[in-house]
Amino acid sequence: MKASPLLLTNISQLLTVRGTAKPRRGPELNDVGIIEDAAVLCAGGKIVAVGPTKDALKDPAVKKLKRKLTEFDCAGRVVLPGFVDSHTHPAFTAPRLVDFEKRISGASYEEIAAAGGGIRSSVDALRKSSPADLTGSVLRAFNQMAAQGTTTVEAKSGYGLSTESEVKSLEAIRSAAARWPGTVVSTLLAAHVVPKEHAGKPDKYVDEIVKKMLPLVKKRNLAQFVDVFIERGAFTLAQAERIFEAAERAGLGVRAHVCQLSPSELWPLLRFQPTSFDHMDHVNGEDIPQLARRDIVATLVPGANYFLGLREYPPARKLIDAGVAVALATDYNPGTSPTASMPFVLSLACTQMKMTPAEAIAAATINGAHALRLATSKGTIEPGKDADLAIFDVQDYREIPYWFGTSSCTTTVIGVEIFDAKELSPHHGGTELTEKKPKREILRVLRASVVKRELTD
Ligand code: NIG
Ligand code: FE
Repeated sequence: MKASPLLLTNISQLLTVRGTAKPRRGPELNDVGIIEDAAVLCAGGKIVAVGPTKDALKDPAVKKLKRKLTEFDCAGRVVLPGFVDSHTHPAFTAPRLVDFEKRISGASYEEIAAAGGGIRSSVDALRKSSPADLTGSVLRAFNQMAAQGTTTVEAKSGYGLSTESEVKSLEAIRSAAARWPGTVVSTLLAAHVVPKEHAGKPDKYVDEIVKKMLPLVKKRNLAQFVDVFIERGAFTLAQAERIFEAAERAGLGVRAHVCQLSPSELWPLLRFQPTSFDHMDHVNGEDIPQLARRDIVATLVPGANYFLGLREYPPARKLIDAGVAVALATDYNPGTSPTASMPFVLSLACTQMKMTPAEAIAAATINGAHALRLATSKGTIEPGKDADLAIFDVQDYREIPYWFGTSSCTTTVIGVEIFDAKELSPHHGGTELTEKKPKREILRVLRASVVKRELTD
């Protein structure tokens, strides 16, 4: 059955985030294109028209559609483009509570990792997990994200660390994506740490990634990007270059975890035209002007700083003021950032990194879309873009980062379907994973909350 076109009306503030087709930088990040008392018309999964409610009701396109139209009265709420969470690690099976308590008693992330905890301690359980359970974990994470306004997600592997288990992780991401109405971009992060069977022989593991995993992942079309954790205790720049050369040969995009715990040279990576450099806490000051001249996005993930209890946060102000295109993401993962909440990340960006609420929203929408090469279809509310929207029960968009620790997202619109935030939350029994259920049923579209009414002239 073809879904009817959808008209959202009575939006107190519609943040269109319209603007240049390039990644947003400097003052552009502060311009979120607000329309007050607005309406949005969507049809066929796309945004068709955007404007003040009174004009929308007189619009010939709206009049022509008349009875076919489903109207959703936003009752004075705020509407944004769905968040684009451009950095997440959802393919894991269990929280890391031992690491959590060790850090509370004073051990650092690197000390815990060096003692055998950290990323390596998530590997055994992942290797043992069934594909269905792993898919269930990923889907629960996607639904938690959607419940808080996220409609596009980048999802990495990285806790399998063998050809079989990295492929299983990417397949789980693919199965979860097929059951979720939003958009998922997959990334192979086999180079997360060296697994214990290759301890002391990292190059052997890099060989496996280059010669076995990458060709297989390419052949099965399991990932669009390849990521490497470049850090002491993880992979060197030279190892990353080998992996990125293979990624380039396979026609896959490149992104990297860099400068999270210590500074790293960036220029040897530029020849791969990475779409994004992520974390960037310890970026060298002299690299900043270089980055400002390019379309590489610096993806900042302050949830990791919060959860690791760090005093310092990524230097957002320095980067933005120098003209670097900055994105914000959750970094959802069991070790450093177990949060699916983009609104919480926005709050951290404002309070800890001194980004304005407008900058944070542009970074979490259109610049996230650029970080995934999806900016022509995602990240703004403009005619022709995908109808991915998030509705918040606030009157002013600045309340989204202001109220922290609770979610004011009530509704997520993806395509022409409307999802109630409570129904998406796994704690409310939102998802039952059975192979053949269409995603529409799994996510229980709340038709009841749609106000249908005849449009008057
Ligand atoms: O982005 N730094 C590398 N990867 C993750 C942490 C993964 C983990 O500890 O499980 C991050 O912070
Ligand atoms: Fe990460």
